[in-house]
Amino acid sequence: MSAPSMNGQAPSLPRHLAIIMDGNGRWAVRRGLSRHEGHEMGIEALRRVVRACVARGIPYLTVYAFSTENWERPADEVAALMRLLDRVLIEEVDELAAQGVRVRVLGRRKGLPEDLVARIEQACQKTAGNDRLILSVAWNYGGRAEIVDAAQAIAREAAAGRLDPEAINETLFAEYLYTAGLPDPDLVIRTGGEFRISNFLLWQVAYAEFWATPVLWPDFSERDLDEALEAYRHRSRRFGRVEVGPQP
Ligand code: IPE
Ligand code: IPE
Ligand code: MG
Repeated sequence: MSAPSMNGQAPSLPRHLAIIMDGNGRWAVRRGLSRHEGHEMGIEALRRVVRACVARGIPYLTVYAFSTENWERPADEVAALMRLLDRVLIEEVDELAAQGVRVRVLGRRKGLPEDLVARIEQACQKTAGNDRLILSVAWNYGGRAEIVDAAQAIAREAAAGRLDPEAINETLFAEYLYTAGLPDPDLVIRTGGEFRISNFLLWQVAYAEFWATPVLWPDFSERDLDEALEAYRHRSRRFGRVEVGPQP
């Protein structure tokens, strides 16, 4: 968790920005296009935001791209989304590496096409040495699934006698989440006009600031990002404590 500053104000930039990239389908349908074309345009927006985060010195960006519930969509949309991630991992990895971006993919590998899993591992390995921006893509990701997976792994360790149940605390639990090693998000942006979390980073957003915009994800611009960052700058993060006023 990021430490609050002395006066309770948010530090000027979030260390970890998380984005629920919503609204691709509506963007496309409004233009008489297929939902898939909306997802394609969503990649452009992601490219813009990655570049902007690198330029602003934000070190962690996590984007919600495919949820465990998104399997309930029509099979052709799901297949198109899997192909899209595969293509993006092939076509974008060099450009990302050149910007100093490290790619991580958060979510269950089980259930994904085997060749996609291989592609994910390749992209993660290829960029493993970079640290300017850690870009985590939440794919086949569900906050509840993540907590269940962590609980299972911890239970296995305990049952094998390698872990004392008394040693389980919040820090240890977090080490079993897909996000192990990442700080908690400071700011969560949701595009597309909804005010819900949709099973995203349930454990990690405990004290995140939330910012929602009606802008549909393919239209999300650098200006929109700056608007969110400016709003964040004025938030007072208390983490349950009492605000400390200016010192006399
Ligand atoms: C977000 O856009 C991308 C995914 C969930 C894969 P949507 O596809 O949910 O777009 P809307 O919400 O239907 O407009
Ligand atoms: C959240 O969007 C998931 C992603 C952006 C990947 P959804 O479109 O799936 O969320 P709901 O259905 O509106 O809650
Ligand atoms: Mg949606």
